[in-house]
Amino acid sequence: MQKYIITGGSRLSGELTLQGSKNSALPIMSAAMLGDGESVLKRCPALTDVYSASRILSYLGCKCTVADGTAIIDPAGSSGYEIPDDLMREMRSSIMFIGAILGRNGECTFSTPGGCELGPRPIDMHLAALRKMGADISDNGGRIHCRLNKRKAHGAKITLPFPSVGATENIILLAVCAEGETIVNNAAREPEICDLCSFLRKRGADIKGDGESTIVISGVDKLHGCEHTIMPDRIAGATYLSMTAAAGGEIILKNTCTAEMEPFISVLEQTGCRIYLAEDRIYLRSGARLRAIRDRIRTMPHPGFPTDSQAVLMAALVIAEGASVFEENLFDCRYRHTVALNKMGADIVVMGKVAVVRGVERLKGADIEATDLRGGAAMVVAALAAEGTTCLSGISHIDRGYEKFEEAVSTLGGKIRRV
Ligand code: EPU
Repeated sequence: MQKYIITGGSRLSGELTLQGSKNSALPIMSAAMLGDGESVLKRCPALTDVYSASRILSYLGCKCTVADGTAIIDPAGSSGYEIPDDLMREMRSSIMFIGAILGRNGECTFSTPGGCELGPRPIDMHLAALRKMGADISDNGGRIHCRLNKRKAHGAKITLPFPSVGATENIILLAVCAEGETIVNNAAREPEICDLCSFLRKRGADIKGDGESTIVISGVDKLHGCEHTIMPDRIAGATYLSMTAAAGGEIILKNTCTAEMEPFISVLEQTGCRIYLAEDRIYLRSGARLRAIRDRIRTMPHPGFPTDSQAVLMAALVIAEGASVFEENLFDCRYRHTVALNKMGADIVVMGKVAVVRGVERLKGADIEATDLRGGAAMVVAALAAEGTTCLSGISHIDRGYEKFEEAVSTLGGKIRRV
């Protein structure tokens, strides 16, 4: 089990080029198995989740290589329709493949992803939508089999009870080659959905309305290959900004998506950090002690405050002047990092979906363990701002979502090493 040894207390300073987005790369890799032709994905981040997705594609019969920031995927000859249990367990986002597998092969077998470190992760919305589009679904002791009549889905009018990112993506993946028109109401509006749609449009798909609450997809007969650059990772961006805000110093983030990060930046700038924005760059300077955030920080679907940035911002606010209040509305168990932060001297009280963070003067290094991806990143943020040395285990969680993390932190002057 690898660990990070982090010595806090240094100011951070430097420039970073932001990695490609994990949550964009995964559904786009899944979308590459539809239709014909080779997809060349630039800025595909080197992450364990991306390698898991690549293993799923290869298992299903696609040719897939990921190297030097480029994924090349050719679905020619892919007729596999089962995702084995072990691959399903490796990555909860494997659920992202079911729309594409069904769309390509007319059937799909997979196991229920069950719960995960963020709490229960039901897939009822995914399955209800697939049913509406013509899938017969049976559950044999946790192995789910979906089958389309005549191997083809038909368009449908689907209103999601909640704007689920994954369910919206699976509907799009099945609808692009379905018979007729699909209308998704109350669709998720996350920027990664727009990136998926822009990739599919380059391949010949007919999709309108992504980024809004209603998406209309008209099925086409063919999709062809294309080249696409994965959008920047707004959550990794939020992590490096929070890190610099907490430790003090200055950072220039390049290859960012400023507009898409606005729900996070508009909160972060209330801490008193100076933030300047250009189209694809963000400059942040943090000098004096951070100020707490006055209004409750409520995680919400985009364009609300992103749940994936809750932990990293909290790690910065634990040393702010005054009290901040978080309300986590997306996941049941997304405050597990607070145990480690409290061990480092933070004062966080969790009551259900609310966490009250009373700013303390300083944190101190401790032996702690990452229990999920963003929570783990938050612990690094806190460790860099703390006095003394932190030993952080469980860093395989961080490898799922941050490309060359310790290299990036070291570039900024942070003292971190993997042992
Ligand atoms: N939900 C249901 N039923 C469903 C689907 C979702 O009840 O059929 C619930 C979930 O349990 C959750 C809420 O709806 O409470 C939101 O889930 P959503 O489907 O929107 O999330 P997701 O697609 O599973 C993606 C990201 C997450 C991110 C969420 C919310 C990927 C691969 N994952 O998950 O990213 O937190 O959207 O924005 O895109 C991360 O990167 O650390 C991460 C967890």
